[in-house]
Order: sequence, then structure tokens, then C-alpha cells
Amino acid sequence: MKFFADTADIEEIRELALLGLLDGVTTNPSLIKKSGRDFKQTIAEICAITKGPVSAEVVATDVEGMLREAAELTPIAPNVTIKVPLTLAGLKACRYLSEQGTMVNVTLCFSPAQALLAAKAGAAFISPFVGRLDDISQDGLTLIADILRIYRNYPQFNKTQILVASIRHPLHITESAKMGADVITAPPSIIKQLVKHPLTDKGIEQFLSDWAATGQKI
Ligand code: E4P
Repeated sequence: MKFFADTADIEEIRELALLGLLDGVTTNPSLIKKSGRDFKQTIAEICAITKGPVSAEVVATDVEGMLREAAELTPIAPNVTIKVPLTLAGLKACRYLSEQGTMVNVTLCFSPAQALLAAKAGAAFISPFVGRLDDISQDGLTLIADILRIYRNYPQFNKTQILVASIRHPLHITESAKMGADVITAPPSIIKQLVKHPLTDKGIEQFLSDWAATGQKI
């Protein structure tokens, strides 16, 4: 399973890269707003840290506008992935860009039917939002299971990777891994939470105290 950082914060991205836990990055307009930084400059800096896919989202809602924005973003680096919304215009832009050899991440997916369309449009990634479904009392992880089941039925859909997004806690990651999702994108704070277990902390405490009692040094 690949780990993408869902952030536009350069320091957080750098830290995950140093930990060996960074396979790519996803950004969106809200994350760019949060960073308070210039969009294209931020994407360029992220692409200098990772060779993995870096999603940059278009904000136009019509096909021509999406393609115009994609033409501004793709020259930034070879690993720029164009993120388009799951609308008919987004799917049309996805088809065109994919045929030109640009990786496309189709975002804001909330149903298996939408995921089916993204695969047919040649998307490199489909981004189902598990947390936002949980937020409205629908089971986000069931959507992942449904998409996996559909894609596994059709070998031609193999090229569309399932990128589990809108992750709220470590269980979203481990459950997605159990099902075999290709990628998760999560805030780095949640990725780092995966290391946590109270028995690990307790065990270290006990070993250190026993070691101190031996009076030895390594
Ligand atoms: C995915 O690419 C999105 O950037 C992201 O996962 C959205 O998550 P949120 O629901 O926490 O905003």
C-alpha cells in the first residue's frame, strides 16, 4: 500500500519523506488556503521533495477551463497529477488528459457508480472520501469494498488505483489495507499515529528501568 500525504505543508511533507513514509502527495484548494502560500510555487516545492505523484486540483468547472488550468500545472514537474472533480466535465477532461499521457486523479467520489465512470474515463486514481461519508452517517469503508469488488471484475480497470481519501483516523488506513486498496492519502499526523500502541510505550518504560537497575552501559 502506498502512503500519500494529504497536505500542502512543506515541512510536514519533508518529515514524512525522511521517515521513508512518503509515496506521493495530494493537495486541494482548501489545503492550499490553509498553507497561505502560492499554489504553483508550493506544487513545485513538493515535486522537488518526492518523485511520487503530486495532485494539483483544477478549480474550473467547465472542460475548457480545466484543460487550460491543467496546461498551466503539468509543466511544473513530470510527477504533477491533475485532480478533477467527479462531474461530467471532470470525466471528459480526465479522458482527454489521460490520452495525452497525464496522470489524473478523479476526486470527490462518494458512490460506486461514480468510481465506475472514473475508471472508464481512464483515471490513474479514483479518490473515494471515506471520512466525509462517515460524517453523514454512511459507512465510508463500505464504499472502498464496493469499488474494489467492481474493479476486480474488470481487468481493464486495473490501471485505476483506489486512493482512499478523507481519512480521519488510523483504522481507516488499516481497514483499507486489509481490503487491498492501492493507496491512502492522509494528514501526516494520522500517518504518524499508526506507530502508537500503549503496550509499546509501557514495554520501553519497563526495559529502560530494568536496564538502569543493571548499572551497565552499552
Ligand atoms: C483528497 O485528496 C482530499 O484532499 C482530502 O482527503 C479531503 O479530506 P477532508 O474530508 O478531510 O477534507
